Amino acid sequence: MQYISRNLDATLDLGDILGRVAQPGDVYCLLGELGAGKTSLAQGIAAGLGIIETINSPTFTLIHEYQGRLPFYHMDLYRMACVEEGEELGLQEYFWGKGLCVVEWPQIAAELLPRDVLQVDISDQLGARLIELTGHGTRSRQIIEEVDKIVAVKY
Ligand SMILES: Nc1ncnc2c1ncn2[C@@H]1O[C@H](COP(=O)(O)OP(=O)(O)O)[C@@H](O)[C@H]1O
Ligand SMILES: [Mg+2]
Repeated sequence: MQYISRNLDATLDLGDILGRVAQPGDVYCLLGELGAGKTSLAQGIAAGLGIIETINSPTFTLIHEYQGRLPFYHMDLYRMACVEEGEELGLQEYFWGKGLCVVEWPQIAAELLPRDVLQVDISDQLGARLIELTGHGTRSRQIIEEVDKIVAVKY
């Protein structure tokens, strides 16, 4: 599914929906250039999980943990050097655990990720953002269906 976000609030709104439909064990992979809006989307997702804390980018610590309706693990693997570093951090425990994982720059940890992830591509479109959701399995396709229904009613 494709979603055009014309401003930050529209990205936060989509994030909110993605947070509300999340179930234990879901993994959202956020792809896009620096400044695309990955952390902004993660902030919306946190709000949708009922988290009221400020969501800062986990650029240096790689993982921030929050407790909302579900545990929320926000990761930014931009500075991760190799997949072994991810194994040492115990990324798999998070990916295969009972919370929601939202991963910015997931590429380096590709081999540690479950197969059925929700892929979210964010790209700049003359200042607006094109946000594309791609499902890689039954669960992620179900998420997209649910999001699609909510977006259709809202807009
Ligand atoms: N439609 C939009 N969606 C998300 N962010 C937007 C949008 N329009 C402008 N922005 C701005 O772009 C920046 C995105 O930053 P951020 O979410 O940290 O990106 P990333 O995590 O992908 O590097 C923010 O400064 C935000 O205000
Ligand atoms: Mg970011």
